[in-house]
Amino acid sequence: MEIIHVSAECYPVAKAGGLGDVVGALPKYQCKAGDIAKVVMPMYRTKYLYENEWDVDFKGSANLGNWFFEFTVIKERINQLGFDLYMIDINGLLDRQKIYGYADDTERFTAFQIAVVKWMSSWEHRPDIIHCHDHHTALIPFMMQYCYEYQLLASIPTVVTIHNAQYQGWMGWDKVNYIPSWDLWKRGMLDWSGNINPLACGIKCASRVTTVSSSYMEELRVSANGLEQLFEFEKGKCVGILNGIDIEVWDPSKDPYLEHHYTVKTVTKGKAKNKQALCEQFGLDLTKPLFVFIGRLVGEKAADILPDAIKMAIHASQGNASFLILGSGDTRVESTFQKMVGEYQGVFNAVIGFHEKLSHKIYAGADFLLMPSRVEPCGLNQMYAMRYGTVPVVRSTGGLKDTVLDMGDLGGFGIRFDQATIHDINYSIERGVAVYQDKKHMEWMRKKMMLIEHSWEGTVNQYKDVYLSIK
Ligand code: ADP
Ligand code: GLC
Repeated sequence: MEIIHVSAECYPVAKAGGLGDVVGALPKYQCKAGDIAKVVMPMYRTKYLYENEWDVDFKGSANLGNWFFEFTVIKERINQLGFDLYMIDINGLLDRQKIYGYADDTERFTAFQIAVVKWMSSWEHRPDIIHCHDHHTALIPFMMQYCYEYQLLASIPTVVTIHNAQYQGWMGWDKVNYIPSWDLWKRGMLDWSGNINPLACGIKCASRVTTVSSSYMEELRVSANGLEQLFEFEKGKCVGILNGIDIEVWDPSKDPYLEHHYTVKTVTKGKAKNKQALCEQFGLDLTKPLFVFIGRLVGEKAADILPDAIKMAIHASQGNASFLILGSGDTRVESTFQKMVGEYQGVFNAVIGFHEKLSHKIYAGADFLLMPSRVEPCGLNQMYAMRYGTVPVVRSTGGLKDTVLDMGDLGGFGIRFDQATIHDINYSIERGVAVYQDKKHMEWMRKKMMLIEHSWEGTVNQYKDVYLSIK
């Protein structure tokens, strides 16, 4: 089976969050399982672009409204990632340093999608599945079916995977001329509440829709940033498939970013050495339980209440716990954390920014990982934490609910709470501080969670079932 993944992110080429991790791993494991999976993404100006060799695969041109643009498709030469990787270069539009966050993101990703369908319609063969990820690529099923120029693609089955329904790519109807000449009877497919809504359009037009955990799939019918009714209506073609993690990249016994490697057997000693290095680097007391947060500093992750929750925990525990933050996002939250570094020296530190290597060191050196998320479609951080023997402290939502069992339950190894409130976070930290004193219990929990299987091998079969249901 030939599967074409279309995505805005793909690790290690370009990553802003979990989407990158998933699109960097799923195709690799699909290829290992005997299918042909390929990735198509925008060509940003990344380190990966400059450090690798590329061949030109196709040159074409198209229109975005009245703007005529040329594009080039390049292919990575040696299949370094375990799958064919194609990038689309649109001069002046995609070739920037960041993935998102520009005023013309609508134009950038719409032009990208047009280039993708234009290129694919030039192929002599037809792939079996086009698999689109999130709203940046969710207009593709519509374009394949209802844009006159791409009718050759109309019969290819499509899958849209929703990694996060909070972001939908809304654009006003004044931009409708961006979409290449289309069947005007299909206006309803583009519209949701008076706007063009690419994610809603993808849900309506795709042959199947998946999201990244079963619990999130259920939650979407009651809370989906305005799309609840659509999820209810389309539930027959929707399914939740829990993400895996790339156990070749995330392996504490080999991780090239770690100075001290460890296995399940050596976890206690191994983590102690990594913790020591981390505490030295960030001026934290080694003897205290270390709670960390890694992620985007946004409302979905409850980052807005995290500073107060941590302050309260520092006071309540009389400095018996320390905290380390790695993240970026809301500038107010960033500056609050930066201020706290001076106020709580020895028990608090924060790094504002995106640092892949440091994130690995933190997963390895921490005792507890905080994830008070208001919304968490899957969450990879808690799975990385578990693989590195770090106890996840999570709000019971989405994928967190599907992967973490509270230590109060039979066989439990994590800490769960219900509300994204300062009180619940604080109470959970107290539970962590208490269990940290019980070295045997900590060791048991670490070993238990490190042995949990979250690899992609099982997950690729679930995607295969989805593909087979529409082929
Ligand atoms: P989301 O995609 O919603 O941000 P996930 O838990 O699915 O959340 O994935 C987040 C990914 O991004 C993980 O690989 C995590 O380690 C990484 N990450 C998030 N913030 C940072 C950061 N500041 N520095 C390094 N890695 C980060
Ligand atoms: C999104 C979600 C996150 C999920 C990731 C990968 O960014 O917010 O929960 O793990 O996508 O699917």
